[in-house]
Amino acid sequence: MRIFITRVIAANAVSLLETAGCQVVQHESKSELSPNHLISLLQDFDALLSVGGPVMDGEFLRRCRHLKAIALMSAGFDKIDLDEAAALGIPVSNTPGVLSNATADVAFLLMLAVSRNAFQMHKEILKGNWNFFDPMANLGRDLEGRTLGIFGMGNIGLVMARKAAAAFGMKILYHNRSKLSPEQNLVQATWVDFDTLLQESDVISVHANLYPATTGIFNRDAFRRMKPGAIFINAARGKIHEEQALIEALQKGWIWGAGLDVTNPEPMAPGNPLLEMPNVCVLPHIGSATLETRTKMAVMAAENLIAVKNGLSMPQQITPRSS
Ligand code: DGY
Repeated sequence: MRIFITRVIAANAVSLLETAGCQVVQHESKSELSPNHLISLLQDFDALLSVGGPVMDGEFLRRCRHLKAIALMSAGFDKIDLDEAAALGIPVSNTPGVLSNATADVAFLLMLAVSRNAFQMHKEILKGNWNFFDPMANLGRDLEGRTLGIFGMGNIGLVMARKAAAAFGMKILYHNRSKLSPEQNLVQATWVDFDTLLQESDVISVHANLYPATTGIFNRDAFRRMKPGAIFINAARGKIHEEQALIEALQKGWIWGAGLDVTNPEPMAPGNPLLEMPNVCVLPHIGSATLETRTKMAVMAAENLIAVKNGLSMPQQITPRSS
């Protein structure tokens, strides 16, 4: 089986594929492949391991209908038309679970950094502005005992809730399509409707998948209904919040601050006003970016493809199975 990988990934994942008898080609240039370029390259391959890379819409998939499998090296699957892949009989897998800790850590980091304006404080030191101790300056907000509202209580949301409850005794609210079972709900989180989440949370942390129903759900109206001192964190997908609405909410003081590991588009343009705001911390989509986690994700994606080579179903298949 010939496999094309859209980035250079952990060497042990590539070795696993080669040991299993696959031929592997990685896209080594640090430039993004256009959809057309990738489609033409894929004509010589049997399977795709996709990390980053272009959106795989219906047209893309129809032109790659010969593929035996697509393994995503991500938990998110918003960049591929799963219905079309299923209709064409191309199984698609993702890498859930292994990145939950690392991604929740980044949401936690942003929550703490925003509450203490940490990124701005660093910028002020670089500008030479650390010269006088003013007890009424540089004041942040306590997190101890506050209410954390999780939007999207999947694997990552659960870990974030556990960390926040353990570190700061935070009370946990959540909004999700399904409710946690008692066995899952070790932090005594309370399911609330979206409006209550907005109105009662001191911090809102977004961990939902990007679906039509979650696209732009944090809009002007949502930010208007949040607490004036609230912090907004998004470590999921940039399209879940409307950027102009967030900028307005911050400028008008509707909320205290925001921490973003994801933006729309990515990369964020250097002149984006959010980068100049003292109460905003932005990171370049590094949720899963630890050596250990990226290695686990690469190995999991490789194992999914090896299963296909061996005539088996992918363990983390997300398209419906045919039998
Ligand atoms: C994921 O796995 O979905 C992360 O956001 C990296 O893309």
